[in-house]
Amino acid sequence: MKKAFVLAISCLLFLTNCEQPKKEVIKTYTEEPHSYAQPNDAVISHLSLDIEVNFDTRVINGTATYNIETNGAAQIILDAKYLNISEVKADGKVTDFTLGAMDESLGQPLTIAIKENTKNIAITYQTTAKTEALQWLNAQQTADKTNPFLFTQGQAILTRTWIPIQDSPQIRITYDATVKVPSNLMAVMSAENPKEKTADGIYHFKMVQPIPAYLMALAVGDIEYKAISNRTGVYAEKSMIEKVHTEFSDMEKMVLAAENLYGAYDWEQFDVIVLPPSFPFGGMENPRLTFATPTVIAGDKSLTSLVAHELAHSWSGNLVTNSTWDDFWLNEGFTVYFETRIMEALYGKERANMLALIGRQDLDDELEYLKDKPNDTKLKLDLKGRNPDDGMNSIAYDKGYLFLRTLEEKVGRDKMDAFLKAYFKENAFSTTNTEDFIKYLNANLLDNNNITFNTLEWIYEPGVPANASVIKSDAFSNVERVLQNFMDTNKIDAAATSQWTPQEWGHFIRNFSKDISVTQLQQLDDTFNFTNSTNSYISMVWYEQSILNAYHGNDVDIKISEFLNTVGRRWYVTTLFSAFKKADRVDEALVIYKTARQNYHSVTANTIDTLLGYSE
Ligand code: BES
Ligand code: ZN
Repeated sequence: MKKAFVLAISCLLFLTNCEQPKKEVIKTYTEEPHSYAQPNDAVISHLSLDIEVNFDTRVINGTATYNIETNGAAQIILDAKYLNISEVKADGKVTDFTLGAMDESLGQPLTIAIKENTKNIAITYQTTAKTEALQWLNAQQTADKTNPFLFTQGQAILTRTWIPIQDSPQIRITYDATVKVPSNLMAVMSAENPKEKTADGIYHFKMVQPIPAYLMALAVGDIEYKAISNRTGVYAEKSMIEKVHTEFSDMEKMVLAAENLYGAYDWEQFDVIVLPPSFPFGGMENPRLTFATPTVIAGDKSLTSLVAHELAHSWSGNLVTNSTWDDFWLNEGFTVYFETRIMEALYGKERANMLALIGRQDLDDELEYLKDKPNDTKLKLDLKGRNPDDGMNSIAYDKGYLFLRTLEEKVGRDKMDAFLKAYFKENAFSTTNTEDFIKYLNANLLDNNNITFNTLEWIYEPGVPANASVIKSDAFSNVERVLQNFMDTNKIDAAATSQWTPQEWGHFIRNFSKDISVTQLQQLDDTFNFTNSTNSYISMVWYEQSILNAYHGNDVDIKISEFLNTVGRRWYVTTLFSAFKKADRVDEALVIYKTARQNYHSVTANTIDTLLGYSE
């Protein structure tokens, strides 16, 4: 970039002979509402991280050294939040820095004095107790219950709470890291990873492909590795490793199916680490090493679409990244579409359509919930001045999916696939915003084929356009018949349900009529033992119905409380606390939340604090 910049300057100075370099275009960054960085002036390009993880003090401390590229600016601005910065050097010499005013969601600008030709800056820092990315777990909060655990969650703008960094999805860096941890634990990152513990607890990492800051990730715990193929495998605690390995045994097949659809997997290795149950998401697509919740380990592979989803992000999100969080649907909508295609390739159309219909119902629920905030139901968002978390709901995922599915039906699968494959290839290791995508879509799929499509309505208008694809599943239609029959007659046709998958059970439970009686719920529970289901998805939807309908049989209240005290997956936890709220049972919710909150990662706790109007 520097070279190109010098060329551009000389171009201005010597207006004659002003030939632009062919390939070397100066990257210009568009305005980013959720980062203080000014990358057009000075930008980081490589990070060398040297840190120590201290479980006694619950602090990470060390030095982040960046290679930088500048246009001669006198300062470089990074993002920092709840970090103690002790010293900053520029090319090895101590330099001035200031931490600006604290914004509750963005944190502080860290402004560092540099010289025209400064090559690197080194920031010595430590994390604090207020960190939002890190969750420090005691042994009791893990599966094995013998050692502590630590994991990070960077997306959307939390990496700045454990590393001072330019925390914008438009800025990509390569990195290497040296991480020192207690010698009985292993450290893994979104990078090339160890497969065994070292004797001294020192681990070295390398990420040679450039990634945005939100994909920086670290986990430390008493974990083991077990390979599935030569490029896929799983990390988990000892008591989980075999179960996890069996559950995810189709991982290599998923990678092959994905490559077959949209081109080579560019990150060499694809591993999954199953974290303790407080992990706030189903999964997080940290490159080379997806972080996942243990709630998907159902014993029957029924919830492994999560792996397909995080794998799909290796193209949509990690390779082609949303430019700003207003374009989040480009990450998630494409990923849900891709996930569904992987699931179809492995397990057939019926399974894919069940998934798509579950998403459709999630979307309808979300639209109902947002009925007074139509702007939040647009694909392209305007999150300036808001926390990007506000835009991270089912609209990006399920409306985004529906848009792409509808488009596929319009243009045909062959054209759609060729288009997407080229889109990923041409934009690899770069960012796209909604407007660039629309231009690309028009040029490469619609205009050239003389196809008209209401793209702008889908992207810039609230709600769901009238031409939305109608998704059908015979399996779900059958479930609806069995349910209707039960509502009408109080008789359940057990034979008709004997082969149901957890998705069908979920659909059955989610679609109880609003006036289902407590007696009917008791009858169903006594027949199917939903309260004691070992499938986390069935438990979640059953507990939701139990809360909404004031069902208290079979000690379900104890189960709900146990669930909320161990599982921190935000989607599940939010569904259940929202049900308490809808049912006017906030007092009961607060009793549970007061003890459960300490087990939650900050992103889950923040969401539930707001939902229940709770403050510590
Ligand atoms: N990237 C998301 C998780 C995320 C979203 C983290 C927004 C922070 C902010 C991840 O890929 C995801 O979508 N997870 C889902 C999985 C599901 C759709 C299969 C989840 O957590 O439930
Ligand atoms: Zn996702």
